[in-house]
Amino acid sequence: MKDPKGTNLTWHTGEVDLVARRRAHGHRGATLWFTGLSGSGKSTIAHRVERRLIERGAFAYVLDGDNVRHGLNRDLGFSPADRVENIRRVGEVAKLFTDAGALALTAFISPYRADRAAVRERFDAGAFVEVYIDTPLEVCESRDPKGLYRKARAGEIADFTGVSAPYEPPEAPEIRVRTAEHDVDACAAQILGWLDARGYLDGDEGETER
Ligand code: ADX
Repeated sequence: MKDPKGTNLTWHTGEVDLVARRRAHGHRGATLWFTGLSGSGKSTIAHRVERRLIERGAFAYVLDGDNVRHGLNRDLGFSPADRVENIRRVGEVAKLFTDAGALALTAFISPYRADRAAVRERFDAGAFVEVYIDTPLEVCESRDPKGLYRKARAGEIADFTGVSAPYEPPEAPEIRVRTAEHDVDACAAQILGWLDARGYLDGDEGETER
């Protein structure tokens, strides 16, 4: 990572460690990084998983592309450089949530493999879980929930992912979800099952590696 611009900076270590936070929340902190095309179902599934986690008393929170672009990232568009910065900032926010002991669920297209890898690098082993919402372009385009594919095909939106801008699918995601074959609840259950099986939802430290 680049050195911070400020000088005379000191890293303060607090009095609460990861183990204490985990015990307090009843689960480990982690980021579930959803990636996939627009209309693939990232937000829908992330929100269903969030709801199920909250029902179980967890500290879970969705960071959603469209929402974050209204605030923190309102200065960013969809050029390659802006997407890189969008993902870098969201990665840092997700890391703060994770350090706080939350289960952060991020729902961003995050089309570039290198950007997702750079975010992963910032996390401890097991704390970054890549969730590929693997929905074929034709299915996303037929859903077209916001009418954006139609506009992109008509040339009214430039650099639209899957149409006039690239999407680089993950090569080895921890979880691959096929929304064309399973409904929202089944997809959410798949993700929760993965977390459960690996001890993520336990308050005591266990085996949480892949
Ligand atoms: S990312 O590529 O930088 O990760 P992000 O997830 O934040 O994208 O935002 C994607 C959302 O912005 C889409 O779901 C869509 O609603 C909207 N959007 C507007 N313009 C574009 C575009 N050119 N490409 C992709 N999505 C766009």
